[in-house]
Amino acid sequence: MEIDQFFKGFSKLQRDQRFERLLAMGALSKADIDYLKAGGVHDLALADNFIENSIGYFQLPLGVATNFKIDGVNRVIPMAVEETSIIAAASKTARWVNQCGSINTETEGETIIGQIQIARVANFQALEELLSENKTQWMAQVNEQVAASMVKRGGGVEDIQLRKVQGVDDHDMAVFHVLFNPCDAMGANMINQVCEYLKGPIEALSGEKVTMCILSNLVDSKLTVARIEMEGVDPEMGEKIQEASIFAESDPYRAATNNKGVLNGIDPILIATGNDWRAVEAGIHAYACRDGQYRSITKWRYSNNKLTGIFRAPLIVGTVGGVTSLHPTARLCLDMLNVESANGLARICASVGLVQNLGALKALTTVGIIEGHMKLHIKNLTLGVGANEAEARPLQKKLEQLLAAKKRISHSDAWQILQALRGQAATAPQETSPI
Ligand code: MEV
Repeated sequence: MEIDQFFKGFSKLQRDQRFERLLAMGALSKADIDYLKAGGVHDLALADNFIENSIGYFQLPLGVATNFKIDGVNRVIPMAVEETSIIAAASKTARWVNQCGSINTETEGETIIGQIQIARVANFQALEELLSENKTQWMAQVNEQVAASMVKRGGGVEDIQLRKVQGVDDHDMAVFHVLFNPCDAMGANMINQVCEYLKGPIEALSGEKVTMCILSNLVDSKLTVARIEMEGVDPEMGEKIQEASIFAESDPYRAATNNKGVLNGIDPILIATGNDWRAVEAGIHAYACRDGQYRSITKWRYSNNKLTGIFRAPLIVGTVGGVTSLHPTARLCLDMLNVESANGLARICASVGLVQNLGALKALTTVGIIEGHMKLHIKNLTLGVGANEAEARPLQKKLEQLLAAKKRISHSDAWQILQALRGQAATAPQETSPI
């Protein structure tokens, strides 16, 4: 069945009906549903394993973005996020993409990067010579001693390079880059161990002092790519989306907001699957300014009725180990995604980020962002002013009418309407109360 059919009317269903639909699709099991209905993870002892000084859990809303078909495979996308309208925009835009196009992904390059720093190198040239004499042996040694399991799977250390970086007090700094193929794993722990191991022979043979060893989050040697191609897009809309893209490609002020919109699609999946979203954010932002200017990580072009979009950036994630395996909600979300590898998860994230970006550009260049966002934000406003169950619906209706007429609504509008509904004359309070 086509994915749009699976999800027909999904957003209008009651929660129990949504569960039934996801059960029928095989995205959730009965046990998953019981777990979610019970409110998710409560195991305080488990929290102690994750972090220090734990006092509980911070729960974010968990939803699913619908209508995603990536590389020809239907996917249910779990998203843990607090911001209204992200999931709605992703789902609606994914339906549009399905109707007239497709999403395809790939991984460019295989290796992640570990860094070994010598802050004050005594003799850079001698270090270069040492590396060229010993590289093959060091790689064989570390692959056997530290990365044997990865070598068996076709990965391991593939190269060691040396870079000269400006140090302090006019001292040169030497930085080894260890290029490591983690196959379909994330590889963070492994690359750190590899670098720590190499520190021994480097120091012993060179007499230099290694300052530190750590992976780099700017993994420009392994990029995740997602592409959208759509036929028959209205020329005016296609041109506007291209213009919005060029704005973000050229102007860092716009690029920051554009990329935030892309990350609206990516971070919620990272959170839902227990991934380190700070690492991904750091990598993406560093890559976005690789030529010295911060730019968009997506690009849209329109020609001959065809709209094409591309996301290309480092997106290093994991599907095994740490929180991804131990946190029951993260496990449930990974099962729901049905991903086979870390690279597969990265490609899904890139696709959702690109779709989210398309949804934002479409809204921004047509009706504007307020209309869709505020429509959905009305429920938050209703709760925020303290409407009870009986008041909520009439208040929402009045706010919808006001939004349609005025094109904007605020917390004080909601409060005033609520007071009118309650038959009280009152003055609107401040949006945030001083403490
Ligand atoms: C809001 O969360 C995200 C947007 O600002 C993204 C964009 O401007 O492209 C709408």
